[in-house]
Amino acid sequence: MIDLTWPVIRALLFQLDAERAHELTLHTLSAAPDLLAAMVRPFTQCPAQPIQIAGLTFRGPVGLAAGLDKNGLAIPFWPALGFGFVEVGTVTAHPQPGNDKPRLHRLVADRAIINRMGFNNEGSAALADRLRKLRESGRWPEVPVGANIGKSKITPLDEANADYVTSTERLRGLADWFTVNVSSPNTPGLRSLQGRDTLATLLPAVLGAAGDTPVFLKLAPDLEPEALEEAVDLAIEVGVHGLIATNTTIGRDGLSAPTDLEGGLSGRPLWPLARKRIETVVNRAGGRVPVIGVGGVERADQVRELLALGCRAVQLYTSFIFEGPGLPSRLHRELA
Ligand SMILES: Cc1cc2nc3c(=O)[nH]c(=O)nc-3n(C[C@H](O)[C@H](O)[C@H](O)COP(=O)(O)O)c2cc1C
Repeated sequence: MIDLTWPVIRALLFQLDAERAHELTLHTLSAAPDLLAAMVRPFTQCPAQPIQIAGLTFRGPVGLAAGLDKNGLAIPFWPALGFGFVEVGTVTAHPQPGNDKPRLHRLVADRAIINRMGFNNEGSAALADRLRKLRESGRWPEVPVGANIGKSKITPLDEANADYVTSTERLRGLADWFTVNVSSPNTPGLRSLQGRDTLATLLPAVLGAAGDTPVFLKLAPDLEPEALEEAVDLAIEVGVHGLIATNTTIGRDGLSAPTDLEGGLSGRPLWPLARKRIETVVNRAGGRVPVIGVGGVERADQVRELLALGCRAVQLYTSFIFEGPGLPSRLHRELA
């Protein structure tokens, strides 16, 4: 049913500017996420394939990656599509508008997206309010929900730790895990926080503020293997509970036509690089902490490949935009 109607809905949405389509969809979902969840559930049945990660039980290995529901507007809806876990955010300590528009582009022929959103979000206090209301009303979903946190644009790099700590403290006890995002290409200087010295103070600060809540680190595919390995080692040394690889790339390999669009590339062309970087991260982690693979995943064989490499779970974003709401349950059925 969903797979039958999706081509029509997609054709309509793809008539709109990409960000307008995104806003319209999220606005609709946020109006009645529980009702819409109940409506889609009969069409998205898939077997539970529970996975333990950092003390959390993911319902299945395919989860929603950060950035799609930055403000946590439609949290009860995503598990109804079959996602085994959900990451909201990136949120920052200060609410911020993000970069100037246009900043979100579909590359339909390449099944890719280039975005330079720049962490447009309502801030971590607004997300905390939303999560608190969900918990208090007994509407917390049956799958873990993580909060991805980043640095506010107005906060200088040398005050980044406090910015991350503020968001962590606000969300402690509300999010099921934290992801420290130091890997988005659209906040000036952010990715420099992936260096050993900066991670060595940032991660302990967040871990301290997170209390009992697990903390994951999300890494960029544009780090060379040595730098990636250094970040992995440092993260594990200081006690991070998991790694997420990868974010979008500033590279433009694999596109069918040259582009001068700026920002992070995701989707099908990211897969070869992400796959390579995920392998580096998994090998270096050596089973010491779980790794969640992300980047260009669109088919069940790719999920199997990442799990066979040693990932414990995967996330996706861009393929969901192209394949539609039937994708997560379809992948889980194919994997079962
Ligand atoms: C429009 C867009 C916005 C994104 N925003 C965020 C974000 O706020 N925080 C983050 O950690 N990753 C963000 N990402 C990256 C995704 O979570 C994911 O790591 C990346 O897109 C690769 O996966 P994919 O090829 O399945 O999309 C964003 C991706 C897209 C396409």
